[in-house]
Amino acid sequence: MSDQTPDLKQQVELLKAQLAQAQKMTALGELVSTTTHEFNNVLMTIINYAKLGLRHKDDASRQKAFEKILGAGERAARITNSVLGMARNRSDRFEPADLRGLVEESLVLLEREFNKYRIHVDKQLNDVPEVIANANQIQQVLLNLLINARQAMQEGGHVLIKTEHNRETNTVDLIVRDSGGGIPADKLRRIFDPFFSTKSGPDETGKGGTGLGLASCRDIIEAHHGRIRVESAVGKGTAFTIKLPVVAKRVAPAPIVAAKPAIPSTISQP
Ligand SMILES: Nc1ncnc2c1ncn2[C@@H]1O[C@H](COP(=O)(O)OP(=O)(O)OP(=O)(O)O)[C@@H](O)[C@H]1O
Ligand SMILES: [Mg+2]
Repeated sequence: MSDQTPDLKQQVELLKAQLAQAQKMTALGELVSTTTHEFNNVLMTIINYAKLGLRHKDDASRQKAFEKILGAGERAARITNSVLGMARNRSDRFEPADLRGLVEESLVLLEREFNKYRIHVDKQLNDVPEVIANANQIQQVLLNLLINARQAMQEGGHVLIKTEHNRETNTVDLIVRDSGGGIPADKLRRIFDPFFSTKSGPDETGKGGTGLGLASCRDIIEAHHGRIRVESAVGKGTAFTIKLPVVAKRVAPAPIVAAKPAIPSTISQP
């Protein structure tokens, strides 16, 4: 063994920490760009329809104006809720997590982008048992998979996001399937390697091309004692499956039987 081994190990650890840090920016960057754009859109809608309502005094125009203003306000509220949800989750703790909520929050962040690229999202979010997870990290994984899916469908397409309880493996399976170009076998073996990318650089939305997305997904899922698998068919699409172990059910504590009535019938004053 050379003297350099501990040094190299340290460097690898340092790079891994930097990768994790850089990847955290995926979610944060998405959050900032979505909220800024969306709030601007919402404000424009509200201002323009308020003006329209003031200009046209007839009932039909005013009704339409109020409906548009309400719709814009509701969209803003959904974004705020999702931002607040993420802010609450900004801990590094592993705790029982609601996958369905995480999927919904991630989709709010990408809704605008998916509409722009004509990508239709189907959700099959079945009731699943809770998993122990770091919500931020799982959301990071979801965003990476969804952004990859979007980039694989330049001409538009379909994404299916599914959650299901796999009783055989006692895992919660999260599946992200796209109808994109697929991945040829020689590349499929390498997609989880750090820095493996077929993209020439960031696209017009500023995303993609470092080749770290899937490497960090795999690191995160392994830290959750889970598995990440891929299946792909050229010309048909790609499906990623994440398997997270189901939380072992805690035995409920035996009810405490009160020897005396819980609420005393007379209250004595000191
Ligand atoms: N859904 C998908 N459909 C087709 N190819 C995919 C898909 N997901 C990943 N790939 C392929 O795997 C490669 C590695 O993906 P990965 O997310 O790690 O890196 P990237 O998207 O190129 O860059 P970034 O680090 O910015 O995410 C991609 O460059 C692409 O060739
Ligand atoms: Mg990627």
